[in-house]
Amino acid sequence: MLSIKHLEAGYGKVKVLHGISIDVPKGQVVTLIGSNGAGKTTTMRAVTGMIKPTAGDITLGTTKIDGFDSYKIARLGLAHSPEGRRVFSTMSVSDNLVLGAFPRMTGSRPKGDVKNDLERAMELFPRLKERRNQLAGTLSGGEQQMLAMARAIMLNPEIILLDEPSMGLAPILVDEVFRIIARLKSEGVTMLLVEQFAAAALNVADYGYVLENGRITAHGAADKLMNDPAVKAAYLGGSH
Ligand SMILES: Nc1ncnc2c1ncn2[C@@H]1O[C@H](COP(=O)(O)OP(=O)(O)OP(=O)(O)O)[C@@H](O)[C@H]1O
Ligand SMILES: [Mg+2]
Repeated sequence: MLSIKHLEAGYGKVKVLHGISIDVPKGQVVTLIGSNGAGKTTTMRAVTGMIKPTAGDITLGTTKIDGFDSYKIARLGLAHSPEGRRVFSTMSVSDNLVLGAFPRMTGSRPKGDVKNDLERAMELFPRLKERRNQLAGTLSGGEQQMLAMARAIMLNPEIILLDEPSMGLAPILVDEVFRIIARLKSEGVTMLLVEQFAAAALNVADYGYVLENGRITAHGAADKLMNDPAVKAAYLGGSH
């Protein structure tokens, strides 16, 4: 579904990614684990066209997408729930969600039933349903984070990139987010997941990659990685 090969990218003269390769097969959840500053968000930005790779190939399905503009990549069915709260603050919750489905109005994605999907998104995130008419900018940080995730789902995407969907959420809502990820997975949604809670991410994922200083240093089936002594020591707090 999504194949990243020998990707190099960075900011100006500073190279952050030094030739990483990641494969996200259809229907699977793949997680990218790494410390702060390892290059996880940069990977997401390169895949979504927010920054242009300097080398390597990114293929979505059969289309080579590296160098494409973000809107074009979204139209091909790749949704992105970015790090931090990127919502349209002067628009209501439901308008933000409908906007997530915008590429479906352009004929580039199957249109489907946007109204029905809006209701479904609200069912997934009851907190958003209660606040559907509230301006997104007045939501709490955690609620905005959930809105960004729900908006990505509204694309009815082939694949969703989730960059720290649990960031800033209270523990009970973190559990909620992982439940939603597991539910989407059971519905066959393909995901690339970046999470600070590495153990929980590996628990829901099929496969994982460890990113250190812009290089993949380990990868494997999620259950294997979870028991890898080096991964345990560095990312799982030794307690799993
Ligand atoms: N816009 C930018 N301009 C210059 N350097 C940047 C920019 N964004 C990120 N960097 C640098 O690139 C490196 C990788 O950052 P990135 O955001 O990809 O890390 P990350 O793995 O997502 O970390 P975190 O877990 O803290 O979110 C860091 O050294 C960071 O300082
Ligand atoms: Mg990040």
